[in-house]
Amino acid sequence: MSGKSTFTIAVIPGDGTGPEVIREALKALNAAGTRDQLHFDLHHYDLGGERFLKTGEILPESVLAEIATMDAIMLGAIGHPDVKPGILEKGLLLELRFRLDQYINLRPVALYPGVETPLKNKGPAEIDFAVVRENTEGMYTGVGGFLKKGTLQEVATQESINTRYGVERCIRYAFEYCRKRGKRKKLTLCGKTNVLTYAFDLWERVFHLVAAEYPDVTTDYAHVDAVSMWMIKNPEWFDVIITDNLFGDIITDIGAMIQGGLGIAAGGNINPAGVSMFEPIGGSAPKYTGQNVINPLAAIMAASMMLEHLGQSTAAARIENAVKKALLQDIRSLASGNMGRGTREVGDLIADYIAKA
Ligand code: IPM
Ligand code: MN
Repeated sequence: MSGKSTFTIAVIPGDGTGPEVIREALKALNAAGTRDQLHFDLHHYDLGGERFLKTGEILPESVLAEIATMDAIMLGAIGHPDVKPGILEKGLLLELRFRLDQYINLRPVALYPGVETPLKNKGPAEIDFAVVRENTEGMYTGVGGFLKKGTLQEVATQESINTRYGVERCIRYAFEYCRKRGKRKKLTLCGKTNVLTYAFDLWERVFHLVAAEYPDVTTDYAHVDAVSMWMIKNPEWFDVIITDNLFGDIITDIGAMIQGGLGIAAGGNINPAGVSMFEPIGGSAPKYTGQNVINPLAAIMAASMMLEHLGQSTAAARIENAVKKALLQDIRSLASGNMGRGTREVGDLIADYIAKA
């Protein structure tokens, strides 16, 4: 447990329902803080679609420099119906991930008791793994371009960038994480070595090199299409999966669905030596804005992940346990609008459970 008790947190509520879920996540954070004598010094930033439409600014350098001095970031959601797709995603979300060198995207996939999964005959014992997604390279770097754009001879390229440095640090993190998680200690590399014979050749070689330093961790390999199939058919085969940026993006949406939906799925954009950012993995769901129906549990679980990352495992567990209790006793469905209570009421309930547990 870290000796530090005051943390400066950058809060980026973002677009659509982002502010509503962040409000509830902060309730949980403060409730846990009160129990464990932790103080959170919150700095709110109005980054997102509205600010961009008003001022043309997406992520000013001065704001980034400020955020870079904080202990962690809580992010709501990015995406505005009046802003062309790609502008905010690349200019804000990916820019934060890249510029803060958050090279890990950690996305746990756990089905909690009381939560419905679309998978037949699978329960919490079978659905309990985590995906470590590389978060700064691969298809996401923007390398590529157009030739003869707009003509019938047009060429568009988009390249996957995989560096020895980037792949190795991600693989090392995954082995460490798998060991620390202490469950089945099995790490599966998810790739496409049968077609992407350069990129995943590098991944596979580095994976085996690093594996030699972790004899207590069992290693496995599966192509991404097979992983997608097995996540549905035999999710119990997985403990920790490591993969590249794009494959990780895709398989974690499958993961979110089998753990009960985007209402509960949280993730961390982690720079182990820098400033990390925690977020619900779903989008801004603009059609639900202001209706008090959006499910805040994913944002609340993101707050729990942030506490864990900050070395506050007791406080992190307080939030997680309160969520588990509410899922068993109070929350009808994880689907926004079907929870049986409103966004604020779910947040109040969690905060209350944290205060009284
Ligand atoms: C995610 C999202 C982002 C991604 C988008 C919004 C750029 O889908 O966090 O998974 O592709 O990484
Ligand atoms: Mn995604």
